[in-house]
Amino acid sequence: RPRVLSGIQPTAESFHLGNYLGAIRQWVALQDDHDAFYFVPDLHAITVEHDPKTLAARTRNSVAQLLALGLDPDRCTIFVQSHVSEHTQLEWVLGCITGFGEASRMTQFKDKSARQGSDERVTVGLFTYPILQASDILLYQPERVPVGEDQRQHVELTRDLAQRFNSRFGKALTVPQPYILSGAAKIQDLQDPTAKMSKSASSPSGIVELLDDPKVSAKKIRSAVTDTEREIRFDPEAKPGVSNLLTIYSALTDRKISELEAEYAGKGYGDLKKDLADVVADFVDPLQERVRTYLDDPAELDRVLARGAARAREVAGATLAAVHEKIGFLPPT
Ligand code: TYM
Repeated sequence: RPRVLSGIQPTAESFHLGNYLGAIRQWVALQDDHDAFYFVPDLHAITVEHDPKTLAARTRNSVAQLLALGLDPDRCTIFVQSHVSEHTQLEWVLGCITGFGEASRMTQFKDKSARQGSDERVTVGLFTYPILQASDILLYQPERVPVGEDQRQHVELTRDLAQRFNSRFGKALTVPQPYILSGAAKIQDLQDPTAKMSKSASSPSGIVELLDDPKVSAKKIRSAVTDTEREIRFDPEAKPGVSNLLTIYSALTDRKISELEAEYAGKGYGDLKKDLADVVADFVDPLQERVRTYLDDPAELDRVLARGAARAREVAGATLAAVHEKIGFLPPT
């Protein structure tokens, strides 16, 4: 079975609709016919200032959400990044074949570092973040990496580093493809539909959190920015707000956008927003119930993570050993 790998950061209390529709929904689908590895990158979460008191809880909460969204530990490998020390070990080697200029061109680094205010607050960890991400991926030799559009550049860097390593030292790494679905690969902020929905960038009112009270989400959807026309029509250039609502509606109900356009012909934005709020509520109500069930049983969650880490270490350890051998390190005796 072809292998896939992906990860989601534990940087918020809740995942949002962009995370689910852009990434996790594909992860759930892929676990059936792929050897799938999914993990929570807690090492990445400390590249910006964080609160140690909440990180462990958020990591647990992230795993609970992944399980509640449909990842099945019997069909895929679920683990926490810091439990597998090979990630930082391979990162060192990859860092030594990455150009400083190449790393400086990463747009997420440029955006995130600009938001830190002063240079002194921008950490070296934030700078090397994409190299750690390349290591996360290459350790598992996946054919595909299912992510949203915003991760494309990081996967491109990963491909470059794998090719560079293989051609300099001999083949040890699979060159992965990004797996980015068209349509839901970029869910936009409700308040600023020209920017992506993002836990770090937007104001809370633009983000639909999966663990929010559905009444709160309904309110956010009601106040979503649209436009001054009346027509409900999919046109991301001219009508980014309405198009974003249609994208979310379509993805959550598995109905075609053209079908929705026909259904809402002659109706107002208020109707669309009210119905979308109901669609979201129908999705998150049972989800939140399942998340609570997983969080109420920490021992079971720990068992899932222990099993996942053991399998992950097996695969990651084999790759790291091959890399060390190619690069000329003296094998430990
Ligand atoms: P993160 O935690 O920001 O996001 C997790 C996944 O959600 C997708 N996503 C979106 N998709 C559509 N619309 C949006 N508005 C939206 N916002 C987020 C992201 O594209 C991502 O797939 N650097 C990664 C985590 C990571 C990783 C990895 C991913 C670390 N190592 C190795 C893949 C492979 C990140 O911060 O994703």
